Amino acid sequence: MRLLLVGPPGSGKGTQAGRLAAHYGIAHLASGDLLRREVEQGTPIGKIAAGYIQRGDLVPDEIALRVMAGPILEAARRGGYVLDGFPRTVHQAEEAYRMAERIDGIELQAVVHLKVGRDELRRRLLYRHGQEGRADDIQATINHRLRVYDAETAPLLDFYARRGLVAEVNGEKHPDKVFAHIVAALDALESERRRPV
Ligand code: AP5
Ligand code: MG
Repeated sequence: MRLLLVGPPGSGKGTQAGRLAAHYGIAHLASGDLLRREVEQGTPIGKIAAGYIQRGDLVPDEIALRVMAGPILEAARRGGYVLDGFPRTVHQAEEAYRMAERIDGIELQAVVHLKVGRDELRRRLLYRHGQEGRADDIQATINHRLRVYDAETAPLLDFYARRGLVAEVNGEKHPDKVFAHIVAALDALESERRRPV
């Protein structure tokens, strides 16, 4: 199983990707987590990424690709992945497709769009700030991240919808319900694909 979760900040990508990875026995690859680790370790990539993450801007596409390419190849070889946060721009998606054209068995099979309203997103992220203190979970940066999502990431959904890969899921329900909806939506996508034409 090779999946991508797309949704705005706070929509539950990390929460659901963790569950999906355990359910399908695949790797959870979170670009934000990998980038934050580079920052913590003070690596050359981390030094470039730090300012972008702090401001709520996307890191340059080449940096995201450099961090994700190896883990994606490795996970595809070992049975699959659920991607959380990458690709995040149309350019990243095009680059990932180019890579998949050269190497068999790594391309995406489904994209789940987690839909959550703005008030709920803000509530979740501000609450998490109180719990975990993530530096980009403050009001002004949250607003900026949401604008960046609309401008840079939302267009991905059309890109993948044209390829028949997108399942829409209401991400506002209880996490257990969201998880059940995702699994059902993935089953439906799979049976549609198998139906003779
Ligand atoms: P990233 O770490 O990916 O952050 P994000 O997209 O802003 O998303 P979050 O991690 O804040 O939210 P989430 O959707 O994972 O929700 P979660 O499950 O945690 O990216 C951070 C930064 O890294 C970017 O701004 C950028 O700088 C850089 N970056 C990353 N990838 C990049 C790329 N490909 N290219 C360029 N730059 C990149 O849930 C949020 C909260 O809500 C939690 O407290 C959770 O417990 C709660 N919650 C979850 N589900 C529910 C529910 N159903 N009901 C109630 N509460 C819930
Ligand atoms: Mg996350």
